[in-house]
Amino acid sequence: MGRLDRKVAVITGAASGMGRATARRFAAEGARLLLADIDAARGEEVTGVITAAGGTATFIRADVSRAGDVRAMVTSAVEHYGALDVLFNNAGIEGESGRLADSSEENFDRVLAVNLKGVFLGMKYAIPEMLDRGGGSIINNASVAGLVGWLGGNAYSAAKGGVVTLTKTAALDYARGNIRVNCVCPGVIHTDLLERVTGGVAVARERLERMQPVPHLGSPEDVAALVLFLASDEARFVTGAALTVDGGYTAR
Ligand SMILES: NC(=O)c1ccc[n+]([C@@H]2O[C@H](COP(=O)([O-])OP(=O)(O)OC[C@H]3O[C@@H](n4cnc5c(N)ncnc54)[C@H](O)[C@@H]3O)[C@@H](O)[C@H]2O)c1
Repeated sequence: MGRLDRKVAVITGAASGMGRATARRFAAEGARLLLADIDAARGEEVTGVITAAGGTATFIRADVSRAGDVRAMVTSAVEHYGALDVLFNNAGIEGESGRLADSSEENFDRVLAVNLKGVFLGMKYAIPEMLDRGGGSIINNASVAGLVGWLGGNAYSAAKGGVVTLTKTAALDYARGNIRVNCVCPGVIHTDLLERVTGGVAVARERLERMQPVPHLGSPEDVAALVLFLASDEARFVTGAALTVDGGYTAR
């Protein structure tokens, strides 16, 4: 029996990186999945990989910054599987990098819309469905950049700090509704996002590696393992937590 046997899970940003790794891990643990992303081609591809391996998954194109898309995503999960037990609000963008006074208002608005409002919308539409069915588990993907400042990442860090406190607030709101709400705070994880941030340059990646006490990058699977624990009933007493998976980055 899998650790998520028959649970219905929605994962945003499932076409790549941590969303993709978590989808594969959840499927291997018996979950039934609704995968969402703005990238339909890669999202369908991940869905195909999972179903070919015997898992249960379906894909919907959704932009998490758009309320209508997020509502349709949640409705689709409930219509398709008749339940909603787990939501992994994972979709996120890095935005532009630069010192605050040089940064554009457009970048700030876009990063906040995807990385913070997207998490708010996911919870807003999933929670009533979870309440109707006796509870659930929500995991939001924050970042170590939500716990400490991130050089050149003003909008990103502000959004991720918001995800941490939004997580805690939602946990308080729904602790008596049997909905647990936690966030993960990854450090530097080797995904497409990181490749874009470093411009694919090995020397930039190596500099990031050296920043961490554990001297290598994290993998998407490292994050998926923590998300799996939070999604499962083993974490039944864990709510309102911001758990790091960062090779010790924030331990100093
Ligand atoms: N990679 C890291 O080092 C790192 C560290 C800490 C936190 N994070 C966070 O982890 C999450 C996943 O990042 P990743 O590194 O796997 O990145 P990634 O770029 O590999 O994957 C992100 C996915 O989100 C999708 N996406 C982007 N905007 C979207 C939108 N508006 N609606 C729906 N889907 C959208 C993309 O198409 C992509 O498939 C993000 O929230 C990111 O901020 C990443």
